[in-house]
Formats: sequence, structure tokens, C-alpha cells
Amino acid sequence: MTSVRPETRPLLSLVPKGNRHGSRSHLTCFFRCGNACDKPEPNPTDHAHIQDEIAKAVGRRSILRGGAVGAGALVVGGVIADGGLAAAATGAPTRPGRPGRPGGATLATAEFSPVAPNRRDAFTTASGFDHDVVIRWGDPVVKGAPDFDVRRQSVEAAEKQFGYNCDYVGLLPLRRDEALLVVNHEYTDENLMFPAGAYSDDEVKRIAMTNHGMSVVRVRRGRTAGSWRRAGLGRAVENRRIHIRTTFELTGPAAGDVRLRTSADPTGRQVLGTLNNCAGGTTPWGTVLSGEENFNQYFDAGAGLNPAYAAEYQRYGISGSGRGWSSVDPRFDLSKEPHEPHRFGWIVEVDPYDPGSTPRKHTMLGRFKHEGANVSLARDGRAVAYMGDDERGDYLYKFVSADRFDPKPTARARRHNLTLLSKGTLYVARLTGDGAEDGEYDGTGTWIPLCSDSQSFVAGMSVADVLLFTRLAADKVAPTKMDRPEDVEANPVNGKVYAALTNNSRRGSASMPVDEANPLQASQVRASLGAPLTSASGNRNGYVLEMTPAGGDHAATEFGWSLFLVCGDPASPETWFGGFDRSKVSPISCPDNVAFDSEGNLWISTDGNVLGSNDGVFRVPVEGPSRGHVQQFCTVPKGAEACGPLITDGDRALWVAVQHPGEIDGSTFEEPGSTWPHTDAFPRPSVVVAYPAR
Ligand code: FEO
Ligand code: CA
Ligand code: CA
Repeated sequence: MTSVRPETRPLLSLVPKGNRHGSRSHLTCFFRCGNACDKPEPNPTDHAHIQDEIAKAVGRRSILRGGAVGAGALVVGGVIADGGLAAAATGAPTRPGRPGRPGGATLATAEFSPVAPNRRDAFTTASGFDHDVVIRWGDPVVKGAPDFDVRRQSVEAAEKQFGYNCDYVGLLPLRRDEALLVVNHEYTDENLMFPAGAYSDDEVKRIAMTNHGMSVVRVRRGRTAGSWRRAGLGRAVENRRIHIRTTFELTGPAAGDVRLRTSADPTGRQVLGTLNNCAGGTTPWGTVLSGEENFNQYFDAGAGLNPAYAAEYQRYGISGSGRGWSSVDPRFDLSKEPHEPHRFGWIVEVDPYDPGSTPRKHTMLGRFKHEGANVSLARDGRAVAYMGDDERGDYLYKFVSADRFDPKPTARARRHNLTLLSKGTLYVARLTGDGAEDGEYDGTGTWIPLCSDSQSFVAGMSVADVLLFTRLAADKVAPTKMDRPEDVEANPVNGKVYAALTNNSRRGSASMPVDEANPLQASQVRASLGAPLTSASGNRNGYVLEMTPAGGDHAATEFGWSLFLVCGDPASPETWFGGFDRSKVSPISCPDNVAFDSEGNLWISTDGNVLGSNDGVFRVPVEGPSRGHVQQFCTVPKGAEACGPLITDGDRALWVAVQHPGEIDGSTFEEPGSTWPHTDAFPRPSVVVAYPAR
């Protein structure tokens, strides 16, 4: 473990130097998504682009008038009879929190002064709120975990400790004052994790691999309403670390397909591990879904890429420039195991209540760079999962189950509900603008079916083809290329669906012209920012898309849509805040994850602010006179991205995963860009809960 090598950071030499677009550091780009932005977008198709004159509409919009189709309110949580699991569906534990100050104000109702943009190395909330760090990278998760020692890391320790770079945060209620916290560990940054010379290359790889995955941690309420802390490990029987050697079962129509078989798994039904788990969702039946996102970057070319999958690899960005993991596990060598990458890129389902359960990868929900999946219920009780494929120019998807959710609190109902994501229909979205004349970015949309569990709707492709290579199937039905679709989630109060579209530096290029749903092109940004046109132009600050299912039914195949937010500096004319007065909102850039409180307010976390501030979390009402009033609730430390977020505990708690603090260009373990949460001389990604001060 202590062998000193001259090449202590073999990956560092691979991290590009020079200017980066936006605020994203080279380290984040390399370690999180394999420098996706530096490569051609993997969607080469040319379809369904609307070369309208929407640019001319900038600065002369009227108040958005809502979707073009019926918007019947749908209270999703109210459909569910069982109190405990209903709470799980909305993310709110069953027992209301004790009143906080002032006057019992909650995060949903509190009036607060927005946090000003800043570059502090601190987690900063609006005044009147406190926050606690609930769990840090390396903290014990499983009984017997050693105390964290950054110089004595090991695979055995990492299997029992909280993984690196927390992302999705879910909370599932237990009895009394306890709950299960479920967190994704998206990726690792070896430059920040390991002291120079302390570990061999292979040790670094093995420990980093183990720091990917998920954690389940029992937590209990603190003394102040909205505060939470870790429960003692002695009673935390559900606690669990899911990592690169955890066995997953493949479900659905593609399970067992020959293209999922490897030498270690001739059945094509069992996969070891989950990778690059980004966002997720908590289901109405009390499980957690997690998206395998930039999985393509972990595979090495070895003796070369198998030409049989050239088109498929290209469309998924699988180039063979991996992390060298094949030296410690040959399944990451594409020349030996060409099917191994087909076993990643799925939606994963974990049952946190059953620590002995085998987590599953659902082929029925398609394979792409899954940001996450959020389940709502259709009017008839079928489960509807909304999903984004986070790549420039890729698509929005949804899945509608064949069977209905059973709300009864019985073991039989639970067994049934655990099958819901294995049978149904997978759709991709096409958005059509209604023209610039109305001064709004809006229109109608259609969910185009790709396949059911028994029938393909894409010519020349089988059901298994569609599910294994969903991007290629979708390309054939002309969906709308979007600007990096991230979190997509239905508002449980107004029934509308909100999608974060983070940014797109190449929108407006020949391969990706503007359309009404993706209206900002490079020249507009150049004009608005007074900056020269560069490859960093385009949609730099992102949008929030609002979709209104026809008839208020999530199973409907038609919907209305409008761009609820066009993010950026409110002083820039292209921005739009749902019609609210621009002079009274917080600047917001690069929306990534979304959540809702009990009033239906939208909460947004950001990733990659390009306006000169740290990332953070924002609250914005979506209805009434305050619709579009974006207010920044908190900022995260230097170099970090705000993930989660989650509102719980009777609206008194805001959970935020602080991912990659200190990941700024030039940072190393010895010279960190942050030391947050300031318990050590180096940064530790951690989950925070914020709540009204007592
Ligand atoms: Fe892991 Fe799409 O952000
Ligand atoms: Ca319009
Ligand atoms: Ca994300």
C-alpha cells in the first residue's frame, strides 16, 4: 500500500490543459464524463430541425400562457393509499417535523433573502437557516468499517465506507424518527483522493473502482426540526455499500440477449457493479432508481475495438480510451469482452428496505447515458418513468408500465410492484414549436413509441435491438435533439413535468441548428454577452422545460410544452423567468437536478455555473403571481457541484449532495482547491441537510 512510485498520478497527464468552456474544470470533464464536450457529439443524425426565426423573438415575449393542451391537476402522491410509501413517493417522511422558526416557516413558505453569487469555500445558506454535514466520503457505512484514513485506503475499507462524489439523494421513511438515506457515488477524482506516492497504480484503480456505486445509510432526526444525523451502526441493519463487485440482475425483454453475455456471465443476466450513477428517483413502491450515465469512459481498447459493434460504440461514445482498469480487471478490455459495455447504461433499481436483495438493471427502460428516472402514476395507476439522456443533442424518454401500481400495504402488492419496470412501452419525445409570432418558446409534443416488451415499433430492429441500442432506435423516428436533458420529474402538485436542459455549447452549429425548444444559438449569445464567438458559445446557461401531459395524464402520448426558464444573467436579454420581473430574480446557470416541495415550488440544483459564482440550489414557484421568481437558497463550496436536491421532513429539510468540492484546474491532494467541509486538509464530498435555524 505504501510503495512509492514516480508516476503517482498516471491519469493527471491525460487531463487536457488550456482553456475550458464555462467554469467546468478540466478535472471534472476528464473524470466525470470522459471529456465528452471535447469530442464530436455522438448523435450524427439530421432530422426534425425547425429552422424557424425564433431568435427574433428574444426580448419580446409575453407572459407564458401555459401548455396547449389540458392541464388537469394531478396530485401524484394522493393516488397512493399507503402513508409510508406515499411519503416515499414524494420524498417526505411520514411524520411532520416540529415547528421551526419563524412562525413554523418551512422551506416551501419561508421568505428569505437570496444568497448572493460568491466564490466562498463554504456551504452558504440564506440567513435564518442552519446546515449540518450528515455524511462524508470515507465515513463508515457498514458495521466493522475502519475509521477513514486517507493514507491507509484499501479496497476492503472502501467496501464499507461512504463512496466518493455523492450525487442522487433519496430518503425513505422508517418507523419512529428514522429513515434510509440512499446516495449515488457517480465518479472518482484520483488526483484529489490519493496523496502522491502513497499507492501503486493498481491500488489507485481498485480503490477508485470501489468508490463508485451507491450507499444506503440509516439516519435519524436531530433535535432541531429538519436536522438529521447518522444512526448508530449497531442498529443500522439496512446499511449497505453497493460497489463494482455487487451482483445485479438484468430484467426485462433484453435480459439474456447474446450481446449481454460475457465469459464471466454466459447467461447475460448477471452484472457485477454499477457505474457513473448520476441522478435517480424514489418510486411509489419504496425503491430507488439510479441512472448509469457516462459509463462509456471506463473501457480500454486493448488489442482493438471489435468491428462488429463499430456503429453502436460510436453512438455511445465508446472509444476505448478508458481508465486503464483492464490491468486490474480484464472485463474492462473491449478486445476481450466486447459485450461488457452493453451491461452498463441502464436504470438500476435498489430496494433499500431489504439489504439482502439483489439490485436490478431494467432493460425495458432502454440503454443510454441515463441521468436518472422519476416515476409518477398515470390516471389508471400505471407507472410512468420520465428520463433524460445527458448528451448534447440527445433525447427525452419516458416508459409506461403495462401493469398498474398496487397501493395495498401487503407483501403480495409489493412483489407485484417490483415487477412494474420489466414490462411496458418505451417512448421518445418530439417537440414541435408553434412559431415565434406569439413571442413564446412553446408548442406541442408527441411521445413516439419505440417498443413494448413484446413488439418493436422501429423498422429493422427487434425489441432487444431497441433496448440495447436505444439511441440508434430513437434516431430512426426523428425525435427532437435536446440540449443535454438531465433530471426530468413531474410536479406532484400541478401535474406538469419539468426537465433540466443543462447547456449545449454547440447549439446553432450545422449539425444542431436551433429550434423553438432549443432556441439559443451561438450568434445570439455572442451578441448578448458582448463576447467573441467561440466554441464556448451556444446555449451556455441552460433551460428548464415545462411539459403539460394531455388531460393531465402521464400516460398520454401528447403534451404541451414551454420553456419555463431560459437561464443566465438576468441582465441578458435572452433570459426568461416564466414571465417574472427579471430585475428581481437570482442569476442561475446550468440547471441539472430538480425537486419539489409540498407547495409545488420547483427546486433546482446547478452544475457548472458560467456566471462567476459557485453552484447552488434555487427555489422557484411555478404557479401564481410569483411564477418564475427564482431565488438562490444556497451556494456550495469552491469547485463543487450541487446535487440532489431533496425536500423532506414536512418541508423543513433540504438535502444537498456536495459533489467534487475543490475540483478546479491545477488541484491536487497536496494543493487542493478546497478543504471543505474543513475537517481535513483535503476536500471530502459530503451530503448536507439545511433547515430553519432554531
Ligand atoms: Fe451526472 Fe448529467 O450529470
Ligand atoms: Ca411560440
Ligand atoms: Ca446530474
